[in-house]
Amino acid sequence: MIDKFLGIEYSCDDTSVAIVSSDKNVIFHKTISQSYTTGVVPEIAARRHLHTLHDIVLDINISDLQGIAATFGPGLVSSLMTGVNFAKGLSLAYGIPLYKVNHLEAHMLSVSLTEDIPYPYLSLLISGGHTQLVLVKSVHEFEILGNTIDDALGECFDKIAKSMNLEYPGGPTIEKYALLGNKKKYNYSKPLYRNNSANMSFSGLKTQVIRSIDFNNHYDVSASFIYTVCKVLEDKIKYIMKDVDIKALSVSGGVGANKLICDALYDICQKNSIRFFPVNKKYCSDNGAMIAWAGLLQRNKADLDDKCFATGQRFKVN
Ligand code: KG4
Ligand code: ZN
Repeated sequence: MIDKFLGIEYSCDDTSVAIVSSDKNVIFHKTISQSYTTGVVPEIAARRHLHTLHDIVLDINISDLQGIAATFGPGLVSSLMTGVNFAKGLSLAYGIPLYKVNHLEAHMLSVSLTEDIPYPYLSLLISGGHTQLVLVKSVHEFEILGNTIDDALGECFDKIAKSMNLEYPGGPTIEKYALLGNKKKYNYSKPLYRNNSANMSFSGLKTQVIRSIDFNNHYDVSASFIYTVCKVLEDKIKYIMKDVDIKALSVSGGVGANKLICDALYDICQKNSIRFFPVNKKYCSDNGAMIAWAGLLQRNKADLDDKCFATGQRFKVN
């Protein structure tokens, strides 16, 4: 039987809702990004989620679905409170089970929505809030092998962009600049390079990059920054490969949409006979489809929200 799940994502500033079927069909997908010029304001983000979720869900026939998958964290507390309570309301009103989804696991599993990636695989999760190298052993088993000890990569892109007076989120513009710049112009130091660990650090690099910015060097700064990041990522992946037999690598999260980083990862994979599975660009940034898909994949051992559903109550919604 084919199941259809609603996926709801709201952990930061994007509100996204999708319907995905167990045979990998994305039947509905709508994302509304809140526009900020300088960064996310949590209180405002939470209030906007409430209105946006309500508006999007009006377009959907909920009673036709077998499950509601919702992000239970990590994320901004105010955004999560709004979204979780909205999801609980829907679940109670329609009598449809509510499945708790971990946002990071959803990013890492999103690759299998479009690709047949073999388990175990190494997942590089690079987003605005997280930077991790994780061994995904199954849809339920995740072993963190490396982590940033300070800033997430997306945060660095955004702060460097802010220092160039670019709008938030700055990652896509830094990427465009980098494509036009000289990657060897600035020889930034590579943090925690060859230090016998898969942990990463980007805070010092971010400061070094920001200090080198002047009026007319944005292209070269962007290119040299991304080049340094790629070198560090290569070093960390190689370190992991010394102990773990890696057959496949995936990259997910907003920064995973970066073409220069994907090209560098592709080269690393080619050199080391690893298959490379970048997440489809559509599903790199926060999205409801990855939440629905993670809910579907994990539904057999699911963490059902019993307080919400065990009552078995049904409320009539007009
Ligand atoms: O995964 P995501 O949508 O949200 C979190 O879970 O954090 O990631 C957002 C981050 C932002 O920092 C944004 O600047 C970055 O992803 N980003 C990029 C690109 N597109 C989005 N960074 C570098 N290159 C891109 N093309
Ligand atoms: Zn995310």
